[in-house]
Amino acid sequence: MINELAQLKQNALKAIKEAGSLIGLEELEIKFLGRKSGELTNLMKGLKDLKDDVKKEVGKLANEVKTSIEDLLEQKKLDLTQVEIQGKLKEEEIDITQPALPKVEPGHFHPMTQIERDLAKLFSSMGFMVLDGPELESTHYSFEALNIPDTHPARESMDTFYIKGHPNWCMRPHTSPVQARAMQKYGAPLRAVVPGRCFRNEATDGSHDHTFYQLEGLIVDKDISVAHLIGVMKELLEGVLRRDDIEIRLRPGFFPFVEPGFELDMRCLVCGGKGCSACKHSGWVETLPCGLVHPEVIKAGGLDPKEWNGFAFGLGSLRLAMQKFGISDIRLMHGGDLRFLRQF
Ligand code: DAH
Repeated sequence: MINELAQLKQNALKAIKEAGSLIGLEELEIKFLGRKSGELTNLMKGLKDLKDDVKKEVGKLANEVKTSIEDLLEQKKLDLTQVEIQGKLKEEEIDITQPALPKVEPGHFHPMTQIERDLAKLFSSMGFMVLDGPELESTHYSFEALNIPDTHPARESMDTFYIKGHPNWCMRPHTSPVQARAMQKYGAPLRAVVPGRCFRNEATDGSHDHTFYQLEGLIVDKDISVAHLIGVMKELLEGVLRRDDIEIRLRPGFFPFVEPGFELDMRCLVCGGKGCSACKHSGWVETLPCGLVHPEVIKAGGLDPKEWNGFAFGLGSLRLAMQKFGISDIRLMHGGDLRFLRQF
């Protein structure tokens, strides 16, 4: 039995030393020391048949064998755990010398959208509704309802795109058609702005494009005067451009739908007044045609001009965006050139 014990110890220690994994080690522990049918347990079952003095000696030896197997198991377990950790570290290593992924560029609004949002916010804060109108518009709202009869020369100057086979329909050449629409829908008193896209059959150059943006403004109330108009226009320009050095001038202007009518010009912010393609080399930009609403237009809106009057303006919001961002060529706005757009 002593020999068998020595043999068991030798086998066990050898197997443990050679174990390659923690799972293998666990199996060996069960094989040699398992309490039900481990080899040592099985061997010890013969202990009861021995004589007392031998029994004591063999028992002592068995204990020693057990302890040395346990000690080695413990040691080996520590070694294998260490090996496993090192392996994992190596496998999941982060290579800090690897170049970073390309930076993700966050999106942003087109300069035109930025201006339109600014304007809508500004006018909302002054109690204006922000309305929408159709881009494909009837000639009634585009012209007749604005006191521009069929024969009026203003029709010529609008360079309107008409719809083939539908002479009473066009792509709106301005946002003014919404004036009568708004009065018909909401009545008076009324404060509304209408940002939107307009279209004209223009030869394009640095300051003209076939597609552009306006913001129509309309106030209908009682006893509205030119002083109200000027006050709101000042508020508008200072608010949108966020500066207080805006120079303006007011000239008489003619539009069939206002009386009196004005042209409000602003000193060019792109060139500071020296002259550039944004201001047609004049140093001034026509920014805000405006005036008191013509009684015929109030009538077309379904209201009584003896009771109601108002003022209107047609802000060239695309031009204003060019002024604000210092853009000298209108064609860049629809050009889709990312090198240009990334600047805003
Ligand atoms: N609709 C005009 C245009 O596009 C601009 C305009 C002028 C609008 C005077 C107005 C106004 O509301 O009062 O040329």
